Order: sequence, then structure tokens, then C-alpha cells
Amino acid sequence: MASAVTEVAAEPEYADIAIRVLPGMTAAQAVASRVGAPLGHDYCVLSLSDRLKPWEVIAQRLTAAAQADLAIAIYNPASKSRTWQVAATRDLLLEHRSADTPVVVGRDVGGPAEAITVTTLGQLDAQTVDMRCLLLIGSSQTRTVPRPAGPLVFTPRRYPATVSETTPGVG
Ligand SMILES: C[S@@+](CC[C@H](N)C(=O)[O-])C[C@H]1O[C@@H](n2cnc3c(N)ncnc32)[C@H](O)[C@@H]1O
Repeated sequence: MASAVTEVAAEPEYADIAIRVLPGMTAAQAVASRVGAPLGHDYCVLSLSDRLKPWEVIAQRLTAAAQADLAIAIYNPASKSRTWQVAATRDLLLEHRSADTPVVVGRDVGGPAEAITVTTLGQLDAQTVDMRCLLLIGSSQTRTVPRPAGPLVFTPRRYPATVSETTPGVG
């Protein structure tokens, strides 16, 4: 929330007010830690809230992230008044990503109502997601491995080589 504070602090009348921003653990990392390392390779962070930016911008960014094969951490997925965005996000991502793509839904991580669900993009039930949840959508490389203690979800550090038409001597 430092951006909300700095936006106000930037106003001339608050020029003399000292501000100090402390680093902290963000929910994406907290949720990721519960299942392994789903954000172990390149990823991006998006908010689904269209209160401060239009849905068209959100949809464009989701598409770009999906096309770039980034894992995606999704904040503010739903609220009492924003009820259709999670299903719309799922459907949009499914245009670019396999239905088997691992998805982690973390609710109230670190709090008394903590719950972690490991599912897939195709199986993601939008009705179970609310404002207390954070979603992690895997890339094409993200894997879910069943283990006795619960599923391990990770994105390997290595990415398969791609053959570029513009790479000299290749293809
Ligand atoms: C205004 S943002 C808060 C961001 C917070 N400063 C952070 O970096 O985690 C609110 C969103 O963060 C996510 N969030 C915050 N705390 C969470 C928690 N304990 N468990 C899961 N998601 C959480 C949810 O997506 C929620 O809708």
C-alpha cells in the first residue's frame, strides 16, 4: 500500500511529511511458499480490480502475460461487487494456456482461516474465490507433483530452448 501513501505524499502540502517504506512479505510469496516454488521462474503480478483501471487494460495485460508464458500472481481477484472477473480471467487465459496448467488458490495465508487449494486452470471454480484469496497461475513449465504431505507445485529454473528464425546458424 506504499503507493497509496506516496501518491498523497507527493502533493505539495505534504512535502514536509517524512515517509519511510519498509520491505515486507507480499501475499504472492506467502502463498507460493505453502506449495513449493510456483514462482521459481519469471512471473508477473496483476490485480484484477477494475476500480482504478479499466477492465480492457487488465484483459490486455492478462493476454500479454499469457502469451509471454509468465506465471501470474493475481491479487484482488473478486469482491462482493466484482463477481465475474475470475471466470473471465480463466476463460481468457485458457485461450493461450493448457487446461492442465497448475493453479494455486491461497486464502488468508498466515491467518486463522488459511486454506490452500491446488487445482488446474480448467478446473478452477470461480465461485470459491473472493477478496481474501490470491491466485497463482502456472506457466507452461509449472508442474504439480503429488507427495504424501500434499502436492508440490514448482516452476523449474530452466526453460526449454526455442529455435529462433532470426538466430544466425539456427533453423
Ligand atoms: C490490497 S491487496 C494487499 C496487498 C498486500 N500489501 C500484499 O502485498 O500482500 C489485497 C489482496 O492481497 C491478497 N492478499 C493479502 N493478504 C492475503 C493473505 N493473507 N492470503 C491470501 N491473499 C492475500 C488478496 O489477493 C487480496 O485481495
